[in-house]
Amino acid sequence: MAEPEQRDIPAAVKILREGGLVAFPTETVYGLGADARNSSAVEKIFAAKGRPSTNPLIVHVFNETVAKRYALRWPPMAQQLAKAFWPGPLTLIVPKTDEIVSSVTAGLDSVGLRVPDHRVALRLLEEFDGPVAAPSANRSGRVSPTTAEHVQSELGDKVDFILDGGPCRVGIESTILSLLDHKAVLFRPGGISRRQIEEVIGPVEIAGKDAPEGSAISPGQMAVHYSPKATMLRFDMTQAASAIQWLRSHPKQPALILSLSGLAAGLQAAGGPHCRFQAMPSDPASYAQKLYALLHDADQQGVEAILAEMPPDSSDWMAIRDRLTRASVPI
Ligand code: TXA
Ligand code: MG
Repeated sequence: MAEPEQRDIPAAVKILREGGLVAFPTETVYGLGADARNSSAVEKIFAAKGRPSTNPLIVHVFNETVAKRYALRWPPMAQQLAKAFWPGPLTLIVPKTDEIVSSVTAGLDSVGLRVPDHRVALRLLEEFDGPVAAPSANRSGRVSPTTAEHVQSELGDKVDFILDGGPCRVGIESTILSLLDHKAVLFRPGGISRRQIEEVIGPVEIAGKDAPEGSAISPGQMAVHYSPKATMLRFDMTQAASAIQWLRSHPKQPALILSLSGLAAGLQAAGGPHCRFQAMPSDPASYAQKLYALLHDADQQGVEAILAEMPPDSSDWMAIRDRLTRASVPI
């Protein structure tokens, strides 16, 4: 892991105090941070990302004690989950106090809080001694950054400071769990799986799926999200023939194949000279760690089409299937 220089944390803290923007590493993806008590600072985040003001931001804190300061209620489930998974990739939605300005939460009276599991982020949060609102440090709708270089190329001209902590260990965003109304509802699958959460607090609903007909979909549940510039096409084992046909009929298009399975040989043979083949790890954690960096690289290299083989429809792969599905169209 890259270590920021000795003076970087104090410099970053000073910028946060003065209402500026600091990009910082977390274990999931890099965040674009501002003081969550300062509305003009928070507005800079929305402007830099081109993010609709209706999409609430996650607030990062140093530990559970600090989290409770900004939560109007801290239910027993929050306590159990914080104990089990913080610091870590789990965001808990709870009722907020007035100190968190309403632009952070897009006017909602709840806030998503998390303690990131990253040395640099924790040093920043400890020294800042306050809540840092931070969405992923990418332009709205684009792939989240997992290195400081990604942040530099996406938002370099819009951030006051970038803390470099090396590549992110988890590689996809945190799990978002609502604890409002005395129940646990999964808003976004992520670094902590539904099964891990259920082992601690029992059954968890999935927003939109188990929810009653007509209930509001959470912000950030927009169908298209996390997209690379290339057109991304998804397929499963049963659609290998379609993938092969696509490759044969686009021999000149710079393409990238992300494949997991034994389809490799057939796909590789069908791709033209401009087609690159990437064997993906067969365990979800290693896959997640690699995915966004590969999508960023593909953009840099001018890849025009990405063909992604979908991982199995099992709970371990839920977060990755979610990101791939949002980024792609069926072949
Ligand atoms: O891993 C992560 O979660 C990263 C790092 C930087 O911490 N952050 C991140 O933030 O992915 P962002 O802004 O890209 O996604 C935040 C999502 C929003 O799109 C929204 O769906 C949800 O969090 N969210 C935040 N506060 C909420 C609230 N009060 N109610 C419902 N959803 C909320
Ligand atoms: Mg994001």
